[in-house]
Amino acid sequence: MSSISQRGNERLLSEAAGTHSRDYKILVLGGNGYVGSHICKEALKQGFSVSSLSRSGRSSLHDSWVDDVTWHQGDLLSPDSLKPALEGITSVISCVGGFGSNSQMVRINGTANINAVNAAADQGVKRFVYISAADFGVINNLIRGYFEGKRATEAEILDKFGNRGTVLRPGFIHGTRQVGSIKLPLSLIGAPLEMVLKLFPKEVTKIPLIGPLLIPPVNVKSVAGTAVKAAVDPEFASGVIDVYRILQHGH
Ligand SMILES: NC(=O)c1ccc[n+]([C@@H]2O[C@H](COP(=O)([O-])OP(=O)(O)OC[C@H]3O[C@@H](n4cnc5c(N)ncnc54)[C@H](OP(=O)(O)O)[C@@H]3O)[C@@H](O)[C@H]2O)c1
Repeated sequence: MSSISQRGNERLLSEAAGTHSRDYKILVLGGNGYVGSHICKEALKQGFSVSSLSRSGRSSLHDSWVDDVTWHQGDLLSPDSLKPALEGITSVISCVGGFGSNSQMVRINGTANINAVNAAADQGVKRFVYISAADFGVINNLIRGYFEGKRATEAEILDKFGNRGTVLRPGFIHGTRQVGSIKLPLSLIGAPLEMVLKLFPKEVTKIPLIGPLLIPPVNVKSVAGTAVKAAVDPEFASGVIDVYRILQHGH
């Protein structure tokens, strides 16, 4: 099937489900990153209007979909730089996050995203989706600032957006990650692990110490599919969506 007729079919499906692609304008924060670029691609495939904001702006990828995104440059730590990009936007999906010192992790996973949540709420955005992360038990203590930031953003979303806010909590996200000119095939490890670990009952992840290591990795396409659904479907469950629900929704 050609990509155009596939795109047409996706649009018909979304319209049959009551979601009209023309009604939604999606802003992906961090749309030039690993997860963000897959989300941009998925939203375009479904016929939505897509823009992105990040500090470096346009994606460095040479793929054809890149020309279909409106690229903004801005920094969530300077919330005023976000305002022009929010004009006319109905849904925001934030893929902004990262690692560093504890205080850097609190700022990027927390403060920066909390700024975005507040700016979006002030601008009357309908739906907000955040790519957060699953709890990793004792590992959480090693990157405390990362989880502190993530959970603070989650609380802000649930407070400001209520049942129009969705938090996705994946574990390891596998797929093809572009680093410079190299494509890293993370699925070589991630896909077999996903296949095996998703056969285990969810309860095993609660076993002290080793449980969190049994959280199934998830394909970046499943995360992207779930994020777009959450961004445009008023019927989509709000609140925290764990890996197991991402695996259900993303297929
Ligand atoms: N990858 C995984 O396995 C995984 C697993 C669980 C959860 N997650 C979460 O999923 C999200 C996306 O991860 P990823 O792997 O796609 O990360 P990534 O490739 O590093 O993407 C991060 C994006 O955020 C943008 N960004 C960083 N600081 C910013 C700021 N101050 N203002 C505006 N944009 C900013 C970056 O672009 P610029 O540098 O151009 O600003 C980039 O586009 C993160 O929140 C991460 O914690 C990832």
